[in-house]
Amino acid sequence: MNLRFRLDPDLTPELRAAVVELWVRASNAGGAVGFVPPVDARQVRPVAERQFAEVGPGQPDRLLVAYEEDGGRLAGLLFFASMRFELMEHWRLLKRVMVDPDLQGRGHGAALLAEAERVGRAWGLAGLKLTLRGGMGLERFYARCGYREVGRVPGAIRVADGDDRDDVTMWRELR
Ligand SMILES: CC(C)(COP(=O)(O)OP(=O)(O)OC[C@H]1O[C@@H](n2cnc3c(N)ncnc32)[C@H](O)[C@@H]1OP(=O)(O)O)[C@@H](O)C(=O)NCCC(=O)NCCS
Repeated sequence: MNLRFRLDPDLTPELRAAVVELWVRASNAGGAVGFVPPVDARQVRPVAERQFAEVGPGQPDRLLVAYEEDGGRLAGLLFFASMRFELMEHWRLLKRVMVDPDLQGRGHGAALLAEAERVGRAWGLAGLKLTLRGGMGLERFYARCGYREVGRVPGAIRVADGDDRDDVTMWRELR
């Protein structure tokens, strides 16, 4: 099934609720998007709302969403975050890259990153950076999408007592 992408969608109450729901479901399916399961909307919503307050044209951050072409269900999303620092305005940090757990493993994650790359090039960006939680094999996924590991802080993410994961930085050159 194909995806339809939308940059800077209207942040209607329906879309906000759909993003929070997807974020909760992706987290509870074991995703590494800022939370450790189990979580529910009460924990995710305030974090999402803080992010929504800073996205949109003319705002530092931007939201890219992907809808299923058939039915229009929200299938995935990511945020482009600015460092809010003039010397780093030529690249963006990708945050909260996620695909609906029911739709993972069908190439949607790769398609979402390809669209982010297309948008980044259209903006004239030099590159895209992201950080990920080690120990989940995510490096392989991003490497296949053209990202290379450029840094790793050992044990910087404490998922639970006795379970420290590396904070891995990946970079996608766009020039
Ligand atoms: C990571 C994610 C966006 C990939 O989306 P997707 O639609 O499943 O990706 P694709 O179908 O394009 O690619 C799937 C491939 O990536 C691999 N992959 C996906 N997630 C993976 C993970 N957590 N660990 C290891 N490999 C993973 C799959 O094994 C698959 O490889 P294969 O084709 O050789 O079997 C999705 O799994 C997701 O939303 N995860 C939860 C949120 C998350 O952890 N995001 C990462 C933030 S840094």
